[in-house]
This record gives sequence, structure tokens and C-alpha cells, in this order.
Amino acid sequence: MALTLTKLLLFSFLVSSTVLTAKSELLISKPEKLTRFHVYVQVKTAGSNATVAVVAQASTTNQSATSFGLVDVFDNALTAGPEMSSKNVGRVQGVEAFASQSEMALSTSQNFVFTEGKYNGSSLTVVGRNVLSLKVREMPIVGGTGVFRMARGYAQTSTYSSDLKNGLLVVVYDFFVYHY
Ligand SMILES: *[C@@H]1O[C@H](CO)[C@@H](O)[C@H](O)[C@H]1NC(C)=O
Ligand SMILES: *[C@@H]1O[C@H](CO)[C@@H](O)[C@H](O)[C@H]1NC(C)=O
Ligand SMILES: *[C@@H]1O[C@H](CO)[C@@H](O)[C@H](O)[C@H]1NC(C)=O
Repeated sequence: MALTLTKLLLFSFLVSSTVLTAKSELLISKPEKLTRFHVYVQVKTAGSNATVAVVAQASTTNQSATSFGLVDVFDNALTAGPEMSSKNVGRVQGVEAFASQSEMALSTSQNFVFTEGKYNGSSLTVVGRNVLSLKVREMPIVGGTGVFRMARGYAQTSTYSSDLKNGLLVVVYDFFVYHY
């Protein structure tokens, strides 16, 4: 009985690894390519139609110089150019938490969803640490869907403009992404 079970397990392992090999060969037979592009992110932190919502904070957050413990959810517009009125190319949706007690640094999880041109219907997922004091912040691209299946790479972001009075912020994301 035990022997039969072992044989059965071995058999199913062999079958599944054959299927897996066939699938990964399909992917590997396409050459991986590097795509570089950038988008602008329109952030509205205050007022009506704000695109960022604070969802939680610690009892100590108000006393923290680094906003430690604050968590927000965002749904920001992606545009082709830096102006709010330039062509809309998608959204970036995600969650970020102020996760450092010694500097302004976010732990972020963001999905860039594209709705225009050749990337329409595809998405890129960026997960990483965003150190707000740096001029250029770098975060890993950990995956994607559609044309960005199996994506890996990195994103570099910097602030294009900020209008604190009206809670408006424009940041640019440069993507360096390997995909098939
Ligand atoms: C908020 O969005 C609504 C609907 O799109 C729009 O009519 C209104 O002008 C916007 N308000 C501001 C302050 O942007
Ligand atoms: C922290 O500050 C905000 C804004 O001033 C206030 O609404 C909130 O009640 C404060 N929270 C705590 C826990 O003190
Ligand atoms: C993007 O794809 C959706 C779903 O296929 C489609 O409805 C929409 O018209 C497309 N948009 C553009 C700009 O091609």
C-alpha cells in the first residue's frame, strides 16, 4: 500500500514537472526585453475629490516627527504629461504606510493599471520602500499582467511639482522593466 502511494506520488510529480517544463519552455522561447517608459502621477491629498484617504494611524502617530504608524490608500490618475489636463493613461492604486521611526519613509504596495495604447489592460506591481527625503527614490517592480506578465525591474520616482497649499502633488515614475 505504502509503495503504491509512493509510486503514485512519484508519477504525479513526474507528470506535473513535465507540464511545468513545457510551460516554462514556452515562456523562455520568447526573448525577454527591456522596456523603459515614464508616467506622471497626479496626487490630490486634500479637499473634495482627494485621491488619498488616511485609513488608520497609531495612538502615537501625532507625536511622531516621521508620521510613524499612518496608513493611507490611494487611487491616483496617471497622465502622459505633467499637467493634470494631459492625456489620462491609467491609475495607480495601492496602500502605503509610514514605516520608519527615524525618517520619512513609506512601505508601499502599488498597482499601476494602464488604460491606453499598447499597455491598455496591462498592469505593473511595485512593492518597496519609498524614502521621501531622497530626490530620486527607487522601488522594485515585482510583477505584472498582460504585456507585463513575468515583469521584473525597478521604478525610479521623483517629485515633479508640489503645491502644498492646495494639496496637489505631481510625481514622475520612470520604469525599467524586463518582460516577455
Ligand atoms: C470633483 O469631481 C466632480 C466630478 O468629477 C467635479 O464636478 C468637481 O468639479 C470636482 N471638484 C474639484 C474641487 O475638483
Ligand atoms: C491626531 O491629529 C489629527 C489631526 O489634527 C486629529 O484629527 C486626531 O484626532 C489626532 N489623533 C490622536 C490619536 O490624537
Ligand atoms: C482599452 O481596453 C478596453 C477593454 O478591452 C476597451 O474597452 C477600451 O476601449 C480600450 N481603450 C483604449 C483607449 O484603447
